[in-house]
Amino acid sequence: MRGLKAKVAIVTGAGSGIGQGIAKRLGCEGAKVIVDYVGTPEGAEETERAIQATGGEGEIVRADITRLDDVNCLIDTAWDRFGSADILINNAGVEKKSEFWETTEKDFDEVMNVNLRGAFFLTQAFVRRLRDAKKPGRIVNISSVHEDMVFPGFDSYVCSKGALRMLMRNLAVELGPLGITVNNVAPGAIATPINKSLLENKQQLSALLNNIPLARMGTPDDVAGLVAFLVSDDASYISGSTFVVDGGLMRNYREQ
Ligand code: BGC
Repeated sequence: MRGLKAKVAIVTGAGSGIGQGIAKRLGCEGAKVIVDYVGTPEGAEETERAIQATGGEGEIVRADITRLDDVNCLIDTAWDRFGSADILINNAGVEKKSEFWETTEKDFDEVMNVNLRGAFFLTQAFVRRLRDAKKPGRIVNISSVHEDMVFPGFDSYVCSKGALRMLMRNLAVELGPLGITVNNVAPGAIATPINKSLLENKQQLSALLNNIPLARMGTPDDVAGLVAFLVSDDASYISGSTFVVDGGLMRNYREQ
């Protein structure tokens, strides 16, 4: 990919799943990567080792994006360690399954706080730095096919992803004059820890695969390739759009 060497990328939730795939890919394309994680450090260490193995540089930061202090610390670390940052990948996300009438306030708040509020205020802190330095930048939110498509049993999740879609559209307009592009990548069914229980349920898994024209789950690498393109020089005129990576899932309809 053109233009990624010497760029600095912040990737949230980079200790596992899609975030780990993105961090590794950007690192091997020559970007310096801030590897954010919360929870267990082993995954983040694995991400950092993979980046170093391809000759790249990574810096691990434990930051819970639902806390403003942690958000500021994440941004400060990028600037202290690498002098600035160019790319923000809002990837960290959680989902909670429950009937609508059983959904608790705690679960609703957790989903919204990580998926939406975290991305909102981290983006704000990142943009303030770019604005002050008069620097351009790239923002990619990892949303979901469910920013647009229903997902019964996951009401808080669709609320967070639908809102992320509108936030991206608004920010593309507001940040364009600053030279900052904003896009969403909407993965479908990707084999990662977020859908562990689905992967372990043979019946549910085969029903899902029946809905995917390419007849397989996606991988974090499938998503990472698109993200690497969107933050490369080849995508400098792309802003305000959602790009779906789902093996055809969203377009599937069969009368049987
Ligand atoms: C969800 C997965 C789900 C997939 C396809 C993703 O956004 O995180 O749990 O399998 O969408 O429905």
